[in-house]
Amino acid sequence: MTVVDELLRGPKTGLHIGGEWEEGISELDVIDPATEQVLAAVSTAGHDHARSAVDAAAEAAPGWAATAPRVRSEILRRSYETMLAREEQLAELIVLENGKTYADALGEVRYAAEFFRWFSEEAVRIIGEFRTAPAGDKRIIVAPEPVGISLMVTPWNFPSAMATRKLGPALAAGCTTILKPASDTPLSALAVADILADAGLPPGVVNVVTARGSSGVVDTILEDPRVRKLSFTGSTEVGQLLMAKAGSRIMRTSMELGGNAPFVVFDDADLDAAIEGAMLAKMRNAGETCVAANRFYVQAGVSEVFTSRLTEAMSVLRMGPGIDRSNQVGPMINAQAIEKIDWLVSGAVDGDATVRTGGRAPDGPGYFYEPTVLSEVSPDSTILDHEIFGPVAPVVSFDTEEEVVGAANDTVHGLISYVYTSDINRGFRMAEAIESGMVALNRGLISDPAAPFGGVKQSGIGREGSHHGMEEYLELKYVAW
Ligand code: SIN
Repeated sequence: MTVVDELLRGPKTGLHIGGEWEEGISELDVIDPATEQVLAAVSTAGHDHARSAVDAAAEAAPGWAATAPRVRSEILRRSYETMLAREEQLAELIVLENGKTYADALGEVRYAAEFFRWFSEEAVRIIGEFRTAPAGDKRIIVAPEPVGISLMVTPWNFPSAMATRKLGPALAAGCTTILKPASDTPLSALAVADILADAGLPPGVVNVVTARGSSGVVDTILEDPRVRKLSFTGSTEVGQLLMAKAGSRIMRTSMELGGNAPFVVFDDADLDAAIEGAMLAKMRNAGETCVAANRFYVQAGVSEVFTSRLTEAMSVLRMGPGIDRSNQVGPMINAQAIEKIDWLVSGAVDGDATVRTGGRAPDGPGYFYEPTVLSEVSPDSTILDHEIFGPVAPVVSFDTEEEVVGAANDTVHGLISYVYTSDINRGFRMAEAIESGMVALNRGLISDPAAPFGGVKQSGIGREGSHHGMEEYLELKYVAW
């Protein structure tokens, strides 16, 4: 038996509804993007399954909302501990279905588990208010209540962490849930549901329905008036469609959408730190993250030295299947991802960009794309305006702070920006001037379950993680006495 067979004996592949594992109406194949081989067949839900999932969530809702916060907290805490106890197996599952390297996958499992730990601590700290009205005629009582049944639609790039980032606060707040994982990577989400069940989560509190695409069963669930909340992580385009549907029902929404992160390096930056940060911000998950550095703006005085050093660092990365733990760059998720990257790189080269390293997809099997650095990228190049979602670093040189602020903000997105400078005043000026929900000052990675993750403009609405993440799953009830 191979390591792959061994791993796939464990994970559940059915629908998880009302605490039971059920067969669906058909099956979808989960493909290993490193080999293009089928890993497993997972049940897909029909409309009846979607309705059953809402029924199960509705039946469990009063009991779960009334469960003592300490009990909810302890279930989340046990889930955190179980995830860590199973971290190697969970990481290998992510490697297989998503393609990321083992180091990235292990990082994801620990990140994912941390959301359960953080929200186990938040579950017992849901704070209300009791105060005297200014006129003295009454008391104002503000009671936070669970928002209600929550639908979560999660992406393939963090199949475990995006599930726990949504489930953690929802469960802590007392909401019941329906999780619809990405069809490319359902196994990790099913594994999370299994862990929660092992930790004592009552049936029906978390239901998982797998299906192709983000419509169909998702529409059925969104149309059900018992469902009160939609949380989505994915592309801005799909987010717009889902928000329109949720909007017609005046549903609460949290949207974590696309990014187009500028990575700005000033002449006075510590270049060692900037290169280290650039490699993290660009190459975590081989660039398949919405917080990936998408456009490198480097001040003219260090532009050539930065580009050469980045080229050197990118060109020595070992590319190959993540199941070999020594590999440093895994495949993209699928063939369409490669086509998009190819299109963006070709467009930049047609506009006179220079390929400093990489610039091509090697022959298969596997959806690999070489780590790539492009220099002399024209400021109006399409690549600077699209989320690359791959291991490609386009570098543009700039002269002044004012010019780079204009370029950084010239996008519909506003998720994260990276700034490298040794002048702290300039760093804060940039942090205030750049339109993004998150700013990384002299850092290449800032994601943290204890911090509010989210964007402005078309990068999203709402925040995940931190105590702000809890607010997304709470309604405030005002009682006058
Ligand atoms: C994402 O790419 O959607 C999430 C990245 C992160 O949480 O760091």
